[in-house]
Amino acid sequence: MSTAKKRVAVVGYGGMGGWHTRYILESDVTELAGIWDIKAERRDLARERNIFVYDSFDALLADESVDIVTVATPNDVHMPLVIAALEAGKNVISEKPVAMSSDELEQMIAASKRTGKLFTTHQNRRWDKDFLLMKQVYASGELGEVFSIESRVQGSRGIPGDWRKLKAHGGGMILDWGVHLIDQMLQLVNDKKIEKLYCKCDYITNDEVDDGFKLDLYFEGGLTARIEVGTSHFISLPRYYMAGTKGAALVEGWKSNCKVIYCFDENEKDVAPVVTAAGLTKTMAPRDGKTIAEYEIPQPESDVHDFYRNVCAAIDGKAEQIVTHAQLLRVMRVMEAAFRSDSLGAPVEIIGDEIC
Ligand SMILES: NC(=O)c1ccc[n+]([C@@H]2O[C@H](COP(=O)([O-])OP(=O)(O)OC[C@H]3O[C@@H](n4cnc5c(N)ncnc54)[C@H](O)[C@@H]3O)[C@@H](O)[C@H]2O)c1
Repeated sequence: MSTAKKRVAVVGYGGMGGWHTRYILESDVTELAGIWDIKAERRDLARERNIFVYDSFDALLADESVDIVTVATPNDVHMPLVIAALEAGKNVISEKPVAMSSDELEQMIAASKRTGKLFTTHQNRRWDKDFLLMKQVYASGELGEVFSIESRVQGSRGIPGDWRKLKAHGGGMILDWGVHLIDQMLQLVNDKKIEKLYCKCDYITNDEVDDGFKLDLYFEGGLTARIEVGTSHFISLPRYYMAGTKGAALVEGWKSNCKVIYCFDENEKDVAPVVTAAGLTKTMAPRDGKTIAEYEIPQPESDVHDFYRNVCAAIDGKAEQIVTHAQLLRVMRVMEAAFRSDSLGAPVEIIGDEIC
């Protein structure tokens, strides 16, 4: 088994391709072989940065020193590039969303099985600290039975002015951000079975693709998860909220600690009512230190370089691939059901193994 650094070539030297090249150069397990992009100006920029540029995609595939090909192009060309690279004997990382549909993804998985080469997707937001905090709280069981989780990201600048606005290229926010938040949610709840989902998309800044959405997932056992992405919000709601029978947890923003409240006296007798302009309420009166306690969990350590470390170890047979084909298929099918729900204007019941 090899202990040398794996040589990675990047296809598509745009925003994310640029990020991959930096990340590959910094890594303790990879080195950069070079890039290929269909745009001359992107190739020129790479040369200016002293990065080797292949003459063509075929020339990149023909380079026998390349162990891994990372595909960082717009979403509609992931499938042909990934399959060609697998057929050329390369291990392949595709950017997210892995494909435009589960049908495309099944063809990519079949190519990986046929060639015996590793194929995975860069679900890098599994290393986000806000998500890791929520995962820790959920797994601890401290909130009692968790019945509601909310995960949202909200910006105010609409969809970026590139291919992300166009359906043909796989634009829209379900495929762009939804893929991350759905993947995180399924990881968080340990792949609990989904019984039903409802999705409503926003078309605030354009008509062709969704510029945001609200997706409700109804899990077996009564847990409901709301996943929300917005691009026309000038005030952002908290990144994550979780409610359980004995407490609640909140992660305000990307860089926040997790605030946990737990209740040690559920049968509080003397509630001080809140007096509002229109009357008083005990039901909605906040609790105080007599029945609840609060603490913070600091952000955990997290190193996104572990993604390439895992890919390299999996190629050498030293680790299991973290982002698996089954997980990718499940997320893809949730996104397809979300699109179906939005176009029907109705919830979608998940029958049998439809999303498994
Ligand atoms: N994981 C993440 O956090 C993350 C973040 C941003 C983007 N992405 C994903 O990365 C991919 C690229 O997004 P981006 O923001 O870098 O887009 P981009 O438009 O900045 O870059 C895409 C590049 O691909 C090139 N390209 C297009 N077709 C090609 C082909 N057939 N062969 C070679 N090059 C080709 C374009 O010329 C362009 O330079 C998308 O799938 C996107 O969803 C992932």
